Amino acid sequence: MEDTKTYSPGLEGVIAGQTAISEIDEARASLAYRGYDIKDLAVKSTYEETAYLLLYGALPDKAQLSEFEGQLKAARGVPGEVVDLFRKLPVKSHSMDILRTGVSMLGLYDPAGWDNSHDANMNKAVRIIAGMPTLIALGHRLTHRQKPVEPRDDLTHAENFLHMLLGTPPDGPKGRIFDSSLIIYAEHEFNASSFSARVTSSTLSDMYSAITSAVGTLKGPLHGGANEAVMKMLLEIGRPEDAEGWLMDALARKERIMGFGHRVYKHGDSRAPILREASREICEFEGYCRWHDISLKVEEVVKREKGLLPNVDFYSAPVYYLLGLPVETFTPIFAMARAAGWCSHVVEQLDNNRLIRPASIYTGKRGLDYVPIEKR
Ligand code: COA
Repeated sequence: MEDTKTYSPGLEGVIAGQTAISEIDEARASLAYRGYDIKDLAVKSTYEETAYLLLYGALPDKAQLSEFEGQLKAARGVPGEVVDLFRKLPVKSHSMDILRTGVSMLGLYDPAGWDNSHDANMNKAVRIIAGMPTLIALGHRLTHRQKPVEPRDDLTHAENFLHMLLGTPPDGPKGRIFDSSLIIYAEHEFNASSFSARVTSSTLSDMYSAITSAVGTLKGPLHGGANEAVMKMLLEIGRPEDAEGWLMDALARKERIMGFGHRVYKHGDSRAPILREASREICEFEGYCRWHDISLKVEEVVKREKGLLPNVDFYSAPVYYLLGLPVETFTPIFAMARAAGWCSHVVEQLDNNRLIRPASIYTGKRGLDYVPIEKR
């Protein structure tokens, strides 16, 4: 007899471990990193400070933050061999595939790559968090036949990324809005990519392998790939007045509307309203609200027709588009932000490790007699 009592498809609702990094309160639709509500962190903190909080478990004092910021700045460069390889990649390779390859390559050039001690992993976390933005900007520019742009020490993590990718630092509120989006994306408990990073490290594999696993897991449209898919949908809809018809057709075809619904949040995702506000702010700054207006209409129709609310990936799409970011870099940006969460999970997993190895229910045939090939 099959034991179906403890089987939960997609591991829904299964407690797969303990964590002190972040907490989702589904009933209140809230999210806290190390006890601090992200609504506060998104407006009061910086990505660098939030990354420190996630990794070290407490907010830094001024000296600690300044030292951490210095470490991140010092680790912005990537090995020349990575640049050489990126020059040989197929033209217009997808940024997420380049990032996955790049993170894996970083491990090859880190002499401490295989050292799984707590201190070595904290150092590797800095190299990964600082290196990923460079990999994305470099990879995208080189595969689009653009010259690489060197990192700048006088810019923050968020500003420097925009400078390296777009060739110019952000103006007006853009740097702060982008920084806030990175804070919002930085961590989210046992989501699929963080869990895959934990599974990889639970075998005592190294941090670069774990983060490579996580990047591959984030790529899918049911996870991080949704923000790119949302922008493609907004572009296809084209005008606010066409949103209703487009959606009714898609829903009639039983299609999933990207950027809506969530495995955990059934009463709304607290990150979405913060990004909705960011989308409004940037459209007003730019004096161009087409994508924001389509997004509002899509939210209204999907809520009315399906009772579904937007998740983190919905409003990040119009925000990133108005920041001038190429659509295919949206998911890699989610990845570079989530790097702080992923590395914190790897450190936490290894500090108290037990191999993650679930069980399954066998549904195949049993007791078959082996038939020699000439008799089949
Ligand atoms: N559009 C349309 N219907 C959706 C939907 C969406 N975005 N999300 C969920 N649903 C529907 C499903 O079709 C299903 O309906 P059914 O019971 O009639 O078949 C029901 O809601 C439950 O969906 P299910 O896929 O079982 O929930 P889940 O917990 O596995 O899915 C997601 C969670 C995130 C994978 C899902 O909501 C989704 O695919 N969203 C779009 C992708 C996305 O935005 N991902 C980013 C997440 S942060």
